[in-house]
Amino acid sequence: MRSILITGCNRGLGLGLVKHLLKRADRPELLIATCRDMTKAQELQELSNSNKNVHILQFDVTEFDKHKQFATEVQKIVGDDGLNVLFNNAGTSPKYTRLPFVKPEQLMDTFRTNTVAPIILAKTLLPFLKQAAQKNISLPMGVQRAAIVNMSSILGSIQNNQDGGLYPYRCSKTALNQATATMRMDLKEDGIMAVALHPGWVRTDMGGSKAPLDVDQSTSAMVDFIYSMGESHNGGFYQYDGEKIPY
Ligand SMILES: NC(=O)c1ccc[n+]([C@@H]2O[C@H](COP(=O)([O-])OP(=O)(O)OC[C@H]3O[C@@H](n4cnc5c(N)ncnc54)[C@H](OP(=O)(O)O)[C@@H]3O)[C@@H](O)[C@H]2O)c1
Repeated sequence: MRSILITGCNRGLGLGLVKHLLKRADRPELLIATCRDMTKAQELQELSNSNKNVHILQFDVTEFDKHKQFATEVQKIVGDDGLNVLFNNAGTSPKYTRLPFVKPEQLMDTFRTNTVAPIILAKTLLPFLKQAAQKNISLPMGVQRAAIVNMSSILGSIQNNQDGGLYPYRCSKTALNQATATMRMDLKEDGIMAVALHPGWVRTDMGGSKAPLDVDQSTSAMVDFIYSMGESHNGGFYQYDGEKIPY
């Protein structure tokens, strides 16, 4: 792949994805990493200073009135070759979400970040994804052509739900999964694939200290997986190591 854009790269899995992409011999020529606040992105800025291919853009995915301006900034970086991969990573998970405690604002805020923003960002950047898919028309489907990776969660799987609770988070990721399956249908003819990806339960601010995986384990496996994706993966739901998860 020539170019990839990842949201929410100042910490957690986003930062880990940037690090592991840079470790590859066939790393992207252009890696656009977004963060909401530059002052909280020290490590990302260091990576960008030592790697010319890392471009940082300040971006809150829920500021929909700024998406057009964001697209202009992305266009300046990718040029006429378009964008190969949009990785919707930024996400949020509120606490205290058992049924007696859940609040409408919590549900709506979580949907705004985890569901609405990835869909609207895909819409915003679609012309660039189409451009890359068209430029690489002779290549098979995959990141070398064009792909949307939506960071989902096993907690969004309806079939796997054994524990209940977490209404805002679960529902927002289930809806994101539906969006992924729908993108598969809508974008197939354009040569753009879409997958939903579960990173595993990982020790980040969101995952907490009891999670079994560290950021390196999850993100190195996810990077290997996205490079290996082909047409047969289109529209599917996978965990970090490529194992399929039921919707
Ligand atoms: N960790 C896990 O076990 C786990 C499991 C399943 C799925 N996931 C998913 O993996 C993704 C990354 O999670 P993580 O564990 O790395 O979480 P994290 O450590 O809490 O990091 C979340 C990232 O998302 C960014 N973000 C949140 N709201 C945003 C917004 N409105 N605009 C732009 N960026 C925003 C944060 O930026 P700020 O620093 O500015 O807040 C931060 O960079 C999420 O989609 C999450 O749902 C994680």
